[in-house]
Amino acid sequence: MNPVVDYLRISTIDRCNFRCLYCMPEDDDLDYALTPEVLTRNEIITLVRDVFTPLGFTRFRLTGGEPLLRPDIVDIVADIAALPTTRDLAITTNAFLLAQKAEDLYAAGLRRINISLDSLDPTTFDRIIHNRGRSRWQQTWDGILAAHRVGFDPLKLNVVVIPGINDSEILDLAELTIARNWHVRFIEFMPIGNANLFGDRGWIPSEELRDQIRAQWGLQDASVTGAGPADVFQIPGAKGTLGFISQMSECFCDRCNRVRLSADGWLRPCLLNETGQIDLKTRLRNGDPIHELRHAVGELLALKPEINFKQRESGTSGLAYGRTMSQIGG
Ligand code: GTP
Ligand code: 5AD
Ligand code: SF4
Repeated sequence: MNPVVDYLRISTIDRCNFRCLYCMPEDDDLDYALTPEVLTRNEIITLVRDVFTPLGFTRFRLTGGEPLLRPDIVDIVADIAALPTTRDLAITTNAFLLAQKAEDLYAAGLRRINISLDSLDPTTFDRIIHNRGRSRWQQTWDGILAAHRVGFDPLKLNVVVIPGINDSEILDLAELTIARNWHVRFIEFMPIGNANLFGDRGWIPSEELRDQIRAQWGLQDASVTGAGPADVFQIPGAKGTLGFISQMSECFCDRCNRVRLSADGWLRPCLLNETGQIDLKTRLRNGDPIHELRHAVGELLALKPEINFKQRESGTSGLAYGRTMSQIGG
């Protein structure tokens, strides 16, 4: 049976203050202005409240680019948190601006947060995020500590594992979960928009990482609040957990419970497939009745199971995408 699709990932802005090797186009212009192409706060809440909620959506995640660059991000959180039907609201951020926003986000109703942290070594970190100026590691780490202090739970750290760059840090990153109630997730690099970036072997199978961790500490099954595709384990006796997101070594399309709304208002049924996208922003701005938008989204949801699988069948490497990960929001 197909899973219920009740999880909407909302990209609030396609700009980012980092330029991670695996995510951004080389020639990004680093212009953070909110352009008229981007959905307004009012358009986002209208779509969530009047289109997605009536169709059964109860779980929402705000992504980017970098969502904390959006000046009204706290208001957007408050709008969605205030809906009585919202069961789960989370954000995915790089944490660079989090120290200054963590308290306000919590007060607005946000309770859980996923943070990208690809390295504990400032030099490697700066290399991955393509930073040539003063190191950005410490401010990012301070953002993570602020989130911990404010009480976000679960607090998850996302690590995209890149052979030859951060794969020597697996045990150090896994160790973070022993003394703290933090949840570290290792993500297999996906060749989206950057197909040949790391040569033939751009990703390491999660099972290899688990073998390393098992040999050091042992590993047992575990669970943590979440709506995504991670397989969750735990070092025996650890306070936190370890997640593995293995989209390259296994196919989890048959469990897919989510769709994505891009910052410029396109509804995308599958991360790996642009088939069937709906331009919700243009339809909203043209004054199309809300019930017609709802109907169109409902039709797309009905087609989603078939769309999910199409791309997998033709293989996931070397795909040509119209958008980078930073535009889709992961
Ligand atoms: P939780 O609700 O905390 O489980 O969040 P999540 O894992 O859904 O969200 P997050 O933004 O932290 O996503 C982590 C990574 O999971 C993404 O960057 C992608 O690499 C991967 N991922 C999430 N959803 C999908 C999906 O639908 N397809 C594929 N192939 N990968 C996905
Ligand atoms: N492959 C896997 N994960 C990626 N992310 C960004 N680009 C890629 C990619 N090519 C992850 C980031 C972030 C999340 C939103 O997406 O690490 O945690
Ligand atoms: Fe920015 Fe996240 Fe992409 Fe890195 S992975 S460039 S932090 S959107």
